[in-house]
Amino acid sequence: SSRHVYRIASIPGDGIGIEVTEAALEVLKAAVQKSGKYTIEATHIPWGTAFYKETGSYLPDDFRSTLKSYDAILFGAVGAPDVPDHISLWELLLKMRGPMQLYANVRPIRCFTKPRLDAEPAHLDWLLVRENSEGEYSGHGGRSHVDQNWEVATDTNVYTRHGIRRIMKFAFEAASKRPRKHLTVVSKSNALRYGLVLWDEVAKETAKDFPDVTWDKELVDAMTIRMVQKPWTIDTVVGTNLHIDILSDLAAALAGSIGIAPSANLDPERQNPSLFEPVHGSAFDIMGKGIANPIGAIWAAANMLEWLGEQESADAILNAIAHVCNEKKVTADMGGDLNTKQAAAAICEQLLK
Ligand code: NAI
Ligand code: MG
Repeated sequence: SSRHVYRIASIPGDGIGIEVTEAALEVLKAAVQKSGKYTIEATHIPWGTAFYKETGSYLPDDFRSTLKSYDAILFGAVGAPDVPDHISLWELLLKMRGPMQLYANVRPIRCFTKPRLDAEPAHLDWLLVRENSEGEYSGHGGRSHVDQNWEVATDTNVYTRHGIRRIMKFAFEAASKRPRKHLTVVSKSNALRYGLVLWDEVAKETAKDFPDVTWDKELVDAMTIRMVQKPWTIDTVVGTNLHIDILSDLAAALAGSIGIAPSANLDPERQNPSLFEPVHGSAFDIMGKGIANPIGAIWAAANMLEWLGEQESADAILNAIAHVCNEKKVTADMGGDLNTKQAAAAICEQLLK
């Protein structure tokens, strides 16, 4: 037939990453069946801690050329109790994000149940945009005089006009496509007087190109208060690598559970395949139990379909998620009693109705 074939690299990684990726692949199968317009060819790629223990690295040297042949990447999580977190994260996830210039990290927040604060579910409909290639995570730094009392350790935050400009442009564009057309620029330019002052200046310049978007600025500490006390004033948010890393966990928890939040690591220029994953990590405390909430991974898969141009399927998956949440056919973290497989099956069933 002439159905379009999307080639997906599936990298489940570690811990519950493996469990939720399997669930997301099931839902993708159901979406393909429902649509009938395209097919998905998912290739399993075993990069993660087991691969590291076998080969000595989390990724093979030629990982970029391997990934280039795919239309998108579905990622689970990385991290194992017996490997230091900074090694697992930098050697797998951050090694892909940086060199592939997946500079726009998009984290939508929605509340499918009751918010964990005094607000309406509709007040927690946000789009968090995280600068994903520089800032606090640019990898500059080091340690010297190791084990001496005068040991020094630095992580240098790097901000470039180019890097700020492209993420601001992306964020203003994203805001302009949403009904409320409002952007909040998160900053810390009172204390960080070079990098984040440049951040603010470029935000202001970029705003001139988007007259239909209203915008404001909030210092990151005050932003945590605003998220809890005035969630209805928030729509689209842009911030640095570290700031949105933290704010997005808070946002997910306010909206119900870290288990539902998705994360799209995009190369907006489409030179490299973009990477879609849940926000959460490998969750040592629940891994292997089969009880992880699969919604974050499933929503990430929906975002992947949207990025590939299959908007109808993406919308159908989101509607199915909203429906099962409303019926409490969910995992324990959201107050339900289903396991991972059952929660995914409920979404598939709803999708195919
Ligand atoms: P985590 O996100 O794995 O877990 C935090 C808490 O949320 C835990 O109590 C966990 O049980 C719960 N949780 C997370 N996902 C859930 C789900 N789907 N359903 C139900 N409950 C869920 O963060 P943590 O514990 O700080 O990190 C564990 C490991 O994961 C570390 O190695 C860390 O570096 C790594 N990590 C990896 C990420 C990634 O691959 N993108 C992101 C965050 C952490
Ligand atoms: Mg995080």
